[in-house]
Amino acid sequence: MIAVATTEDELAGVCERLRALGVRSMDVVAPSDTRRVVLAALDDTPGEARLVASLRAEGAMAVTRPEAGAALQKWLRDTRSITFDGRLSVCRAWSEHDRADLPGLIELGPGGFGDGRHPTTGQMIEVLTERIAGAERVLDVGCGSGILGLCALKLGAASLTALDINPDAVEAARRNADINGMGARMEATLAPLSEIEDAFDVVLANIARAGIVELAPELVSHVSPDGWLAVGGISPSQCSQVAGFLRPLAEVDRRTAGEWATLVLAGE
Ligand SMILES: C[S@@+](CC[C@H](N)C(=O)[O-])C[C@H]1O[C@@H](n2cnc3c(N)ncnc32)[C@H](O)[C@@H]1O
Repeated sequence: MIAVATTEDELAGVCERLRALGVRSMDVVAPSDTRRVVLAALDDTPGEARLVASLRAEGAMAVTRPEAGAALQKWLRDTRSITFDGRLSVCRAWSEHDRADLPGLIELGPGGFGDGRHPTTGQMIEVLTERIAGAERVLDVGCGSGILGLCALKLGAASLTALDINPDAVEAARRNADINGMGARMEATLAPLSEIEDAFDVVLANIARAGIVELAPELVSHVSPDGWLAVGGISPSQCSQVAGFLRPLAEVDRRTAGEWATLVLAGE
């Protein structure tokens, strides 16, 4: 089976396209006022994968989906939304779960790391819910799906510059900004950090120890005098060493859970 996330406005066009591609029967789920998820079963599994690839190439948010059994139960569990601090909710666009009443909803299409389920992403989002006050200019280094920057915007940040070395991530981040109505406040780029000239109120980098250490001087230089930097994807035992690379910023917050840690640093 495949699932295609679309909107109420674009539903007829998507169904017509699926029929043109040979799909004979479809169900439509309406998890919110505007979101529609088209479910379509084909006779053969390789055919489903090919259909998803064709639809993705056309820009559609299409995925293969289990049809029944334990695999479907897992899929339904994994596509539930996650709510952070009662203010911010994240789910995949093709989630069939009702989300009409979720606070601060962000939906994510395909591509790019980061759907909120990995502990490092979760820790970074927790930092954002505690620290974003509103009107900040945010830089997200290693944006993946764009999830961190989009959460910051949802919490009231003014603008977002998102960069990644992976073209698929940059494309995914742009699309995710658009489907959440935030495209005008976001710029996504493949440009290296050294080519970004501005300083920012908030700099985010969930790029693991090696990436943080490699970019440390540039991460620090992109933080405005009253701004702060959050780095994630490190182990608790690496915190002090990583903080050392980020001087003269000083550690102001640390959160650890299991094997992961996130550090927040600011000027003294
Ligand atoms: C662990 S993912 C984090 C994605 C997302 N920000 C999150 O928190 O879920 C790390 C991302 O950083 C990107 N990345 C790694 N090194 C980078 C670098 N030097 N400059 C920019 N992006 C980088 C990777 O391509 C990947 O998309």
